[in-house]
Amino acid sequence: MKTYFVRTFGCQMNKHDSERIAGMLEDRLGLVEATQPELADVVVYNTCAVREGAEERLRGHVSSLKAAKTVNPDILIAVGGCIGQRDGESMLSYLPHVDVVFGTHNIAHLPSLLETAQRTRRPSIEVLDTTTDFASDLPALRGTPWHAWLPITVGCDNFCTYCIVPYVRGRERSRPLDDIVAEATRLVADGVAEITLLGQNVNSYGRDLYGESRFPEALARVAETGIRRLRFVTSHPKDLSDATIAVMAENPAVCNSLHLPVQSGSDRILDAMNRRYTAAHYLGLIDKLYSAMPDLALSTDIIVGFPGETEDDFEATLDVVRAARYDQAFTFLYSPREGTPAAKLEETVPRDVAQVRFDRLVELVQSSALEKNRALVGSLQEVLVEGGSRRDASVLTGRTAGNKVVHAPLPDGIDPASLAGTFVSVRIEETQTWFLSGHLEGYERT
Ligand code: 5AD
Ligand code: SF4
Repeated sequence: MKTYFVRTFGCQMNKHDSERIAGMLEDRLGLVEATQPELADVVVYNTCAVREGAEERLRGHVSSLKAAKTVNPDILIAVGGCIGQRDGESMLSYLPHVDVVFGTHNIAHLPSLLETAQRTRRPSIEVLDTTTDFASDLPALRGTPWHAWLPITVGCDNFCTYCIVPYVRGRERSRPLDDIVAEATRLVADGVAEITLLGQNVNSYGRDLYGESRFPEALARVAETGIRRLRFVTSHPKDLSDATIAVMAENPAVCNSLHLPVQSGSDRILDAMNRRYTAAHYLGLIDKLYSAMPDLALSTDIIVGFPGETEDDFEATLDVVRAARYDQAFTFLYSPREGTPAAKLEETVPRDVAQVRFDRLVELVQSSALEKNRALVGSLQEVLVEGGSRRDASVLTGRTAGNKVVHAPLPDGIDPASLAGTFVSVRIEETQTWFLSGHLEGYERT
């Protein structure tokens, strides 16, 4: 039996696409999953071009397969996703032993590209400029049966000056609302407990199809399918509407959990980033959100060291972090991406200066996260079980509606794996920066 291995870099959209890639390799080519890339006949890398780090990791991974390919020349290496889309054939100049290059718009063609490469024994390369298909129409092999990604838009029209995404994912395209609801209904019937709606900027959902955003309606209609938990990423602060906040607050299925990237707290830098909001607008949204949902779990993305960032600009970012009371923040050192407007800016921040700022930011984020977690001690949390904890198999691990990891010991004889995908109630007793622990007060068996 021939085998495959898929390695995913980058965002949730890539994770979703990888589930489709695995589904196609099994359904269409009859492959089975291998435990390691070195043991597989087909190795697929679904790549990310957002920062340099992911690119370096890709090069390392592909180069390390060279030895396996010398032993078994029939191994096929395919590289797709955002780097595939960006580089196309030129990838072979720096990764010569790649057999298939594909992009973000032609995932469905991967099986035939692999067959061509195998038959001709030559690299098979296809990168398309655009597509009308959504990868959701392909067979899926979900990593976790109780959770599903559901793309509602692909691409991005925002052109933040640092970001490569609009160039590698194309213009924003929305899926018709009825298709989204139909897919959500199928997922619920399939036993899925949690759906995450996906898009680079979900808040502008529908603008291309209906002339105006219909995201609040999409959220409400998916919630009506009977899904237990509904999340969405990513929200752009310039487009998050009062109507969306109201649907979140009113609808018990929509988790009181929001990822709202701020990127910087300095108006000057936000302008240079082309984010099209001010720190005051952002903080105004945060006020509205906490008033509507006092238990809101809030996360963000922040870039440190954007060209021209001064000490005062950075202090303004720290001020926003203090005011926003984040539960989590993904922090990034600015990474220039060729082809983006910011890459041409000359006033770069020295690496050591950026690193000192980065470390200060991480410290502040950690204390904010711990403070938010401490407020949960004594509360009863509904937890969606993921399985046993890595350290102790008699302890279950799962997530709250706020997306926080929870550990709780189980009574003797209950295997946490048997509870995976079900909901339990956990009384929170202790907290760390990145997880909560407590004791079980009740569980639902299915
Ligand atoms: N450098 C650093 N971080 C970046 N991001 C996007 N582009 C860059 C870049 N060139 C970050 C942003 C975005 C997240 C997904 O990645 O914070 O929200
Ligand atoms: Fe990139 Fe900005 Fe689009 Fe997000 S909104 S994908 S940061 S261009």
